[in-house]
Amino acid sequence: MSSVSSRASVLVSRSVFPEVVERLREHFDVQTNDEDAVWSPAELAARLQGKKGVLTTGSERVDAALLAACPQLKIVANIAVGYNNFDVPAMTAAGVLATNTPDVLTETTADFGFALLMATARRISESEHFLRAGQWNQWRLDLFAGAEVHGSTLGILGMGRIGQAIARRGAHGFGMKVIYHNRSRLDAATEAECKARYVDKAELLSSADHLILVLPYSAESHHAIGAAEIAQMKPTATLVNIARGGIVDDAALAVALREKRIAAAGLDVYEGEPKVHPDLLTVPNVVLTPHIASATIATRKAMANLAADNVIAFLTTGRAVTPINTVA
Ligand code: DGY
Repeated sequence: MSSVSSRASVLVSRSVFPEVVERLREHFDVQTNDEDAVWSPAELAARLQGKKGVLTTGSERVDAALLAACPQLKIVANIAVGYNNFDVPAMTAAGVLATNTPDVLTETTADFGFALLMATARRISESEHFLRAGQWNQWRLDLFAGAEVHGSTLGILGMGRIGQAIARRGAHGFGMKVIYHNRSRLDAATEAECKARYVDKAELLSSADHLILVLPYSAESHHAIGAAEIAQMKPTATLVNIARGGIVDDAALAVALREKRIAAAGLDVYEGEPKVHPDLLTVPNVVLTPHIASATIATRKAMANLAADNVIAFLTTGRAVTPINTVA
């Protein structure tokens, strides 16, 4: 029987479901973060000493400096599909495997994207605030009259798994005309199934009644939607960002919303979150949610379990379930 001290040590850098910790404890010595504090890079590095694996979230940056301070680390498993918190080339150079949580959150995130689109187009938050403030004293024909969703043109920027799932909802559920722009065009069968037509970015911006962003964040996608892009949109259009903060220039968006250059926006992610640009907090025609697109209990459990699966599989068999990079 092996002694406890011969087991590998693993860190769970944020609070996760107890059953996920229990699964990890069947294989490893596990240190958790039950207070759910967001550790500074120095504190994360200190907690990682002697650890072979770690479960992270988008709040933990994994870069060359952290990797240099943690030479025993073999795998970093992000509890997220996005991994812009990882410097993947630095991880590969350090021989550290990176994993994420694709697929398990696709449909849930697409549901939320559609919910945010609906709330934005139909002015649900704005009208609820009005009602709660006791301002509703009579029915009016144009009271919070918003934009049509069914039959309108849905523009999707970024057409990976989540973008495709949103396209299906729009085309098949709401009879929307779906147009998309992506780094690479989908194959004809997938386009047909999603009823989606590939267009260039200029046509996407100028034709969409509702534009939803579902692309990964990178240096190339930084401020992909700024003042110049918003200026190309219809004044009646809505914009929804469920992708990552930094893809939209939030300051420029706040100005555009205040000046009604577009009708409304729905945001789940922000530049520098959890801080939110103060001007967004004062414009009425924006629906703001705190990065919850994948937040159903079942999906968040599936994400945490997949991250645990990756650590267990990699440290016990050398093969992860959903690797991002390849290490020797
Ligand atoms: C993801 O999975 O990337 C979500 O944004 C949660 O971070």
